Amino acid sequence: MPNALVVGNWKMWGSREQAKTLASSVAGSSQSGVDWGVCPPFPYLQVAIDQLGCDRVGAQTVSADQSVPHTGDVSAEMLADLGVRWVIVGHSERRAERHETNELVRAQVERALSQGLVPIVCVGETLEQRNAGQAESVVVEQLDAALQGLVPTTDLVVAYEPVWAIGTGVVATPEQAQAMHAVVRQRVKDLGLSDRTPLLYGGSVKPDNAEGLFALADVDGALVGGASLDAQAFLAIIDAAA
Ligand code: G3P
Repeated sequence: MPNALVVGNWKMWGSREQAKTLASSVAGSSQSGVDWGVCPPFPYLQVAIDQLGCDRVGAQTVSADQSVPHTGDVSAEMLADLGVRWVIVGHSERRAERHETNELVRAQVERALSQGLVPIVCVGETLEQRNAGQAESVVVEQLDAALQGLVPTTDLVVAYEPVWAIGTGVVATPEQAQAMHAVVRQRVKDLGLSDRTPLLYGGSVKPDNAEGLFALADVDGALVGGASLDAQAFLAIIDAAA
């Protein structure tokens, strides 16, 4: 497999000063065999780029539309102009709070790819869906909508983030994570995409559970929320991925 990948999702966190401090505090990580980066809020993308370089920075969302006017939106062209590498799409917080549908996520994927950005496509089921035995079908539906028909060489990342594990401190068990990651790996392959597509786990990843997750056959890294706001914790997670 390629290098492990660890990405910090800062969500709606920080000030300009905090962003600068956090980015500069993790800048020194050169753990071999691990690729890593951070996704700050839009106003602090340039702050992170200044500290880390474009290749270690991504955005947290992108407009699904190309044309103006869309007050408040940020286009894929703008992100490409800044030079960021990744863009997160389909995060469950946006699916739930901003009513982003599978169709909209698909449009975002296409917009991102059209500008040479690497989409980090988030999928994951709610607790209700898991308890109803629908976890797999929900995730597969999200994957199909986002990825079907893309060219086989598409450069993308998939993040499995069970909604019930996000920000809750309840991490998926290794069995739950591996079982779903195996499903995702197979589906990505069935959709004609590379079976080397990095599959990240997200949801309460911390230094003390990271190693166990990274040891799983189909977990290639992590999308880290809360723990990525603490430089020492984030660096420890990067180290665990080595
Ligand atoms: O995108 C990362 C995220 O949703 C997980 O957040 O705080 O549970 O690590 P957290």
